[in-house]
Amino acid sequence: MLVRKVVIPAAGLGTRMLPASLAVPKELFPLVDQPILHYGVEESVNAGITEVIIVTSPAKRALEDYFKPAPALEERLRSRGGPDPLDRVRRLRETARFTYVLQDEQLGLGHAILMAREAVGDEPFAVLLPDDVIVAPTPVLGQLLQVAAAYDAGVIAVEEVRRAQVSSYGIIEPKKLEEGVYDVVSVVEKPSPESAPSNLGIVGRYVLPPQIFEALEHTPPGAGGELQLTDAIALLLKQQRICAATFQGARYDAGSPLGLLQASVALSLARDDLGPELLDWLRVMLSGV
Ligand code: G1P
Repeated sequence: MLVRKVVIPAAGLGTRMLPASLAVPKELFPLVDQPILHYGVEESVNAGITEVIIVTSPAKRALEDYFKPAPALEERLRSRGGPDPLDRVRRLRETARFTYVLQDEQLGLGHAILMAREAVGDEPFAVLLPDDVIVAPTPVLGQLLQVAAAYDAGVIAVEEVRRAQVSSYGIIEPKKLEEGVYDVVSVVEKPSPESAPSNLGIVGRYVLPPQIFEALEHTPPGAGGELQLTDAIALLLKQQRICAATFQGARYDAGSPLGLLQASVALSLARDDLGPELLDWLRVMLSGV
């Protein structure tokens, strides 16, 4: 299964990050020295994706500026010599094509994906939710693509979540195929702990067949009155197989203040230029606790 395109929904209101997200889209908040969105695009490109489709909103046009060339600044950095901090952005821009799709109304994740229908066309594609930042030895999207190829099916990333937290996730009913790979028997968005079919929660990485768009067209509003991607996947299950897979890596919810802090610390500790000093400082901080 050849997957060339990723859809990254980034039109949300970012209410969990107010007031910081009032004037700056939360996807552009810095995680160390790169915006949150950079990590998702980098993971996609490292997994072999060559077209990045970003779903944005009229209020968040700043997202488009990040991946645009900045000739004057780039020339200045070149003439100054030394390491160029923009190399990391340039590599993404030169490896993948960027397309922006507008979502005028925030009617849910399913609605955001539906906005990308024309840009995706009639081929399987990936979905990456940028809030879910995953620090992993190999890109999680790449891990999913391997499962998709092995089973010739769509795949959803899942991880075990605490029972008390199931109502924050899409939860699957699994049938084990092999260690860490399941057939999705059914799936439900944000169930109560009593009614949840398991504690395997959907994490923001998907490989989906193009038939999901037709399913989305026929999906009524669900949890929170929004058009849910999970509900469309449930509909699609009547026609075709969808698998779920656990992954190697640590996930952080960078769309919440605590998750953003945790991701910042984890990513900094992994960096040679920041890790040792940060660790020393953390040790001093913790010694007083
Ligand atoms: C979305 C999905 C949900 C999934 C979650 C992962 O929910 O609808 O199924 O488990 O992302 O982050 P949201 O967090 O946008 O409410």
